[in-house]
Amino acid sequence: MCGIIGAVGRGDETLDVLLDGLSNLEYRGYDSAGVAVSGGELSVAKRSGELEVLEDALAGKSLPGSVGIGHTRWSTHGPPTDENAHPHMDCTDTVAVVHNGIIENYQSIKEELAAAGHEFESETDTEIVPHLIEAQRADGASFEEAFRHAVGRLEGSYAIAAVLEGSDTVYAARNDSPLVLGVADDATYLGSDVPAFLEFTDRVVYLEDGEVAELSLDGWDVTTLAGESVEKDVRTVDWESEETGKSGYDHYMLKEIHEQPRALRQCLQERVDELSGTVDLGDDIADAVQNAESIQLVACGTSYHAALYAAELFRSQGVPAQAFVASEYVTSPPPHDDDTLVVGVTQSGETADTLSALRDAQRRGVDTLAVTNVVGSTAARECDGVLYIRSGPEIGVAATKTFSAQVLAVNMVAAVMGNGSASHEFVSALRDLPGQVQTVLDETNAREVAERFVDSDAYFFIGRGYDYPVAMEGALKMKEISYKHAEGFPAGELKHGPLALVTANTPVFAVVTGETGSEKTVGNVKEVEARDAPVVAVTDGRTDVERYADEVLEVPETDPRLAPVLANVQLQLVSYHVAKQLGRNIDKPRNLAKSVTVE
Ligand code: G6P
Repeated sequence: MCGIIGAVGRGDETLDVLLDGLSNLEYRGYDSAGVAVSGGELSVAKRSGELEVLEDALAGKSLPGSVGIGHTRWSTHGPPTDENAHPHMDCTDTVAVVHNGIIENYQSIKEELAAAGHEFESETDTEIVPHLIEAQRADGASFEEAFRHAVGRLEGSYAIAAVLEGSDTVYAARNDSPLVLGVADDATYLGSDVPAFLEFTDRVVYLEDGEVAELSLDGWDVTTLAGESVEKDVRTVDWESEETGKSGYDHYMLKEIHEQPRALRQCLQERVDELSGTVDLGDDIADAVQNAESIQLVACGTSYHAALYAAELFRSQGVPAQAFVASEYVTSPPPHDDDTLVVGVTQSGETADTLSALRDAQRRGVDTLAVTNVVGSTAARECDGVLYIRSGPEIGVAATKTFSAQVLAVNMVAAVMGNGSASHEFVSALRDLPGQVQTVLDETNAREVAERFVDSDAYFFIGRGYDYPVAMEGALKMKEISYKHAEGFPAGELKHGPLALVTANTPVFAVVTGETGSEKTVGNVKEVEARDAPVVAVTDGRTDVERYADEVLEVPETDPRLAPVLANVQLQLVSYHVAKQLGRNIDKPRNLAKSVTVE
């Protein structure tokens, strides 16, 4: 969703800092961008299109002032035009505001302001905020009072920051949308996400809903909306700013695919003891999962596929478990009992649908556990327990390394369910997995497969058991970044309808790993082959599926529970190469955003 950056105290470098921050945040939204810098006067520049359009417009210009805010947009209200880009201003062009989220009651406020003579230039919900501040200031309120009053009127989700001409202060507030301060000795930063300012400081202060932050040349302060002082912890994040660069890869997605061995090693570190065959995720997680009589998983997108996988895994341990698309969970919450555990699987820890499902569970008195990548994220802070997957920052909109780490993490949870004691074979398989991913990366023929099938009409993916979530994820990856029609199906379901779509120009990727049910999937592959559709087998060689396949993407043999990670790496690479050959914007696919903070 939209990205926000703010900086106070960087003097003449303010504009550069804002533009740097926006380029680090572009994965949150990239259909328009803008900045506002306040010195003696207020300068605002904004453009529709990617950040480079704004950078070109500002080339050679300086916006004087050491207080600024910036925004990269993912449209909700109104198409991506210059007028709808943030920052938005009031009638006097002295207040500038950036916003992430949706203001649900904006229409009535807009009508009220219009009746009082305010004129609007955009179709956004955000534009009411500078006008509310303007109206209060006209009645004699200070900038701070006017900001608090404006925020107090808003319903919905928001992370908001405002600057005023001639003032050296940024005011910011949040409700249901992340906002974090970056604290350095000589300057203070604001971000919708830590990477916004990570190259300047790794000391952060997470804002909570209902809090107001004041960033000024004298430092920073956090209060409640009513103005009461709030003690905040300053935390140090352990991500390196180099981790947010492309490190020579053409795309973040490719870099992150190649980071998977390291991400998996980090996920395992100090949690798995091969000698004793034990998995230790700490007492809190052990208590939570061992006491759970049933598990409901809530998640969206790629994380939902990891949740589907986890549900299957937990059921295999004898624990009733079901995965829900988070937005549907909220619409129709399933029954629970006292010993139900709700697990939110979310890379960012900020996805609005997932947070809403977790909050719904908490309201009903159900224990919650977050499986997330982002330390200090909203899910991490709000849930009763948290398991970090430790993948490092993931910038590409299409999730890759975090899916693999989520699958690994839920395997460790499953081991802890059984009192933390896993078989030596399984613990060895866990330990070997990062190296096997490396083997896939080194030996893959995914590029050739992509070249052969790049002109296909559509792509279908099938699998059963643990391979089914991989089929779903393979299809999601393909549609996200190639914009080609792609669908995943349980292998057995293909003949109940989707087979009607299969032609000689619709390759079917069959994920066939492990033993359980694999022979049946081979049967489904034969049905496909009989209809002249090309078959790409993604397999560990335990069946003879290769005999019926036009192409084979091999994966090393491992424990059947872990094979899906390896198969998925092959499919990530196929999608990447198809998208690359089609010239798609791989890291910033159209219409999508990395972190979706509206429901
Ligand atoms: C967005 C992203 C997806 C991601 C989903 C869930 O839709 O584009 O790549 O899988 O959100 O994100 P989360 O941070 O909750 O895992």
